[in-house]
Amino acid sequence: MEPWRTAIVEATEDSIRVRGYDVTALMGRATFTDTIFLLHRGQLPSPHERALLDAILVGVADHGSGAPSCATARLAASGNRQSLSAAVAAGILAIGDEHGGAGSACMEMIAAVVDRAKAESISLAESARRTVADARATGRRIPGLGHRKHSVDPRTAVLFGMARTHGVAGNGVAGMEALDAALRESGKALPINIDGALAAVLFDLGFPPAFGKLVFIIGRVAGLTAEVAEEYAREKPMRIKVPVTYDGEPARELD
Ligand SMILES: CC(C)(COP(=O)(O)OP(=O)(O)OC[C@H]1O[C@@H](n2cnc3c(N)ncnc32)[C@H](O)[C@@H]1OP(=O)(O)O)[C@@H](O)C(=O)NCCC(=O)NCCS
Repeated sequence: MEPWRTAIVEATEDSIRVRGYDVTALMGRATFTDTIFLLHRGQLPSPHERALLDAILVGVADHGSGAPSCATARLAASGNRQSLSAAVAAGILAIGDEHGGAGSACMEMIAAVVDRAKAESISLAESARRTVADARATGRRIPGLGHRKHSVDPRTAVLFGMARTHGVAGNGVAGMEALDAALRESGKALPINIDGALAAVLFDLGFPPAFGKLVFIIGRVAGLTAEVAEEYAREKPMRIKVPVTYDGEPARELD
């Protein structure tokens, strides 16, 4: 069998090197956020990059037991007392394009807005207007906008404020704000949610779109492990009874 190729970690009999750095040196001097940045980008973050990535990870860690990923993990933990990993994995499987994973599509949309502004020699605002008009004409939603619980997502202003303070905010933040403004102009006022905010900041930090979803998974695992641990510690097995109304065929007999 041909050896696998990797540029991430080299593990030998007497050392473990992450992107070339000895893990024992990293353990004493790098934060977990530094290590996530190093694993994905191949270099340690600047203080500004560390602060923003750290804030994103804190922001997505948990959103209450009712959030789809947390509720799914709780349900799996309630019926399965044998496998912590299965319960946590169930929560991860609930992350998708609508819940927690809109960041990837949003980064692609921001890139399209920025590219269109350049290609058509128009402002970001006009490019966002045209992008929103196209989406509305075909009935598509703008990823990163709207929230089931918040009319204003309190995490967005924090991230955008930090992005400006740390000198990170660029076309990503501006493009996301332009998309938000364009949707408002078109008659729909929706908040920029955490996925939209983190997408804008990650775009400005130079991450690829896939990381918009992966960063949510990384951060949310912290919350999922706590949700599952509490379910095991405080609740009895099979305690969750989901109310269900049957509205199918009435009782009938086989011919
Ligand atoms: C998150 C989300 C599912 C919440 O939806 P909701 O608050 O339950 O709102 P509804 O699905 O009932 O939609 C209400 C109205 O807003 C519109 N709407 C909601 N989100 C929209 C979006 N992102 N872009 C355009 N229109 C949107 C709907 O089309 C609907 O319009 P209508 O009343 O004219 O039919 C929704 O906003 C969405 O799909 N957002 C995009 C995905 C995303 O960013 N997910 C991450 C969430 S943190």
